[in-house]
Amino acid sequence: MYRTHTCGELRISDAGKTVTLAGWVQRTRKLGGMTFIDLRDRYGITQLALDATAPEELSSVANSLGREYVIQATGEVIERQSKNAKMPTGDIEIRLTKLTVLNEAQTPPFTIEDESDGGEELRARYRYLDLRRNPLRKALELRHRLAHEVRNYLDSLGFMEIETPYLIKSTPEGARDFVVPSRMNPGQFYALPQSPQTFKQLLMVAGYDRYFQIVRCFRDEDLRADRQPEFTQIDCEMSFVERDDVLEVFEGMMRSLFKNVLGVEIANPIPRMSWFDAMDRYGSDKPDIRYGMTIHELTQDVQGHGFQVFDSVEYVGAIAVEGIADYTRKQIDELTEWVKRPQVGAKGLVYIKYNADGSVKSSVDKFYSPDELKAMAEKAGAKPGDMLLILCGPKRKTQTMLGVLRIEMGNRLGLRDPHVFAPLWVVDFPLLEWDDETARFYAMHHPFTAPKPEHLDLFYSDRKEDLEKVCANAYDFVLNGTELGGGSIRIHDAKVQQRMFEVLGFSDEDAQYKFGFIINAFKFGAPPHGGLAFGFDRLCALFGGQETIRDFIAFPKNNKGRDVMIDSPSYIDQIQMDELFLKSTAETPEEQEKKA
Ligand code: AMO
Repeated sequence: MYRTHTCGELRISDAGKTVTLAGWVQRTRKLGGMTFIDLRDRYGITQLALDATAPEELSSVANSLGREYVIQATGEVIERQSKNAKMPTGDIEIRLTKLTVLNEAQTPPFTIEDESDGGEELRARYRYLDLRRNPLRKALELRHRLAHEVRNYLDSLGFMEIETPYLIKSTPEGARDFVVPSRMNPGQFYALPQSPQTFKQLLMVAGYDRYFQIVRCFRDEDLRADRQPEFTQIDCEMSFVERDDVLEVFEGMMRSLFKNVLGVEIANPIPRMSWFDAMDRYGSDKPDIRYGMTIHELTQDVQGHGFQVFDSVEYVGAIAVEGIADYTRKQIDELTEWVKRPQVGAKGLVYIKYNADGSVKSSVDKFYSPDELKAMAEKAGAKPGDMLLILCGPKRKTQTMLGVLRIEMGNRLGLRDPHVFAPLWVVDFPLLEWDDETARFYAMHHPFTAPKPEHLDLFYSDRKEDLEKVCANAYDFVLNGTELGGGSIRIHDAKVQQRMFEVLGFSDEDAQYKFGFIINAFKFGAPPHGGLAFGFDRLCALFGGQETIRDFIAFPKNNKGRDVMIDSPSYIDQIQMDELFLKSTAETPEEQEKKA
């Protein structure tokens, strides 16, 4: 037996026992005649001790130890003289009688501590060392716990976990596909699933009326803090349900996860907001409702006073920011520059200070009387001491900019406490999105999303204005400003599906080529069905109080989509290229080098 206990296990009640531990050397130190070794494994740290009277063969091994050596230690558990209340094992230490080096270790390139001295790139290259650190270990433990709870909850409701294939055909989620060339089928490619969407619908046709899967998905899209090219979904589908049946089941799942994993009671019921309200009031389809500072429209109030900028636009809107009426000129200038950054895209910023003494001061004093300014401030919810920040332009674009500004001000004012959880269902999305460039409609979710039954008439209209009004029977689960999940009731009627393809501009042949298998399956008795998928990495990150998902994935990619540890993607040799009938038009590494 390599060990009798783990390094996190022993307590004062174990005093007197002879034990054997195995693990990594966190550090060694000498104090007076004593030598102390901190021994670490994934369960904790235990102190090993050796005094000056220890036999030579023992102390010479102890003196040879370097950081991260793998050792086995045997000895007696004794009560410590100077206890460490911060460590669960801090009341005891092991008086060594035997010490074996199981493996030496090179000095790690960064410290294996809670706060490491290694930069991100270096730690990514040695991810297996980074994973030894507590914060990452805790993140993966949380992930494991959540996966376990999800399975328990869904199993208890009769959901079956069924695996679906990874080598498939293009899926309809709207990102770019990763593709895999087929050696056996020259010139042909598989696509990796952006989600199991079509397969889970086929499972409904097959009669597996409650399906789920904790499943990897692949999307070739620009990466952000909450996006990885391969990520994990809790993917679910149900038959014979309406929207509220689905929402109820997954509200229950979220409630039980929060309760069992974090000991937190979330809102019951979880509030619901229409997409239109979310855009109008929060400038986002994933509102962070931990705080107010909602958007108020002022178009009517400001127009017709001779201020050309406001008079010439579709929309003027404002947020009232609490307690910043004392912002200096410099601070306002800085904020103005901030909203003009390309990431926000505003042309300028107008402010109204509602001073603590009730007076007002504004960058547009010239055009409005103090009473008018005060009325606008109050309409937007400002109190004395607050400042109104006003943007203008096309309606949705301006609301979105105000939404971004609202999040920024929420951050600056510390209103976005990661330990406060404010879940929300966003419902009634538009079914279709018009794209000016290609002059066609795109599905806002995917082409299997059903229109709301009461909007079916509009859906069959040929007028663009009518089609724009059609709402989808779709829903997103939003937590603290992050889209954590999304889904919909699906189209199960072949005629409605056909109309959908027509609206999206697919020819019959196109639709048949891309989705023929599902169109055909639906001819064999598709039950009414619907479902959703949660981003599992995002769920883990939010539960862990973080916005970045990378630490909750054991081996993530960097923001260029690379795994720098295994150095992938990489070139493949010519033989492999030939076998796959591939010819690359990219420069070879040699050609690139020559150019450089
Ligand atoms: P959707 O595309 O909204 O829906 O994806 C569901 C959830 O997956 C997460 N997610 C991601 N997480 C990390 N990295 C990514 N690149 C990434 N992309 C998406 C988000 C998102 O809410 N088939 C539908 C679901 C359905 O209709 O049932 C789908 O995939 O948290």
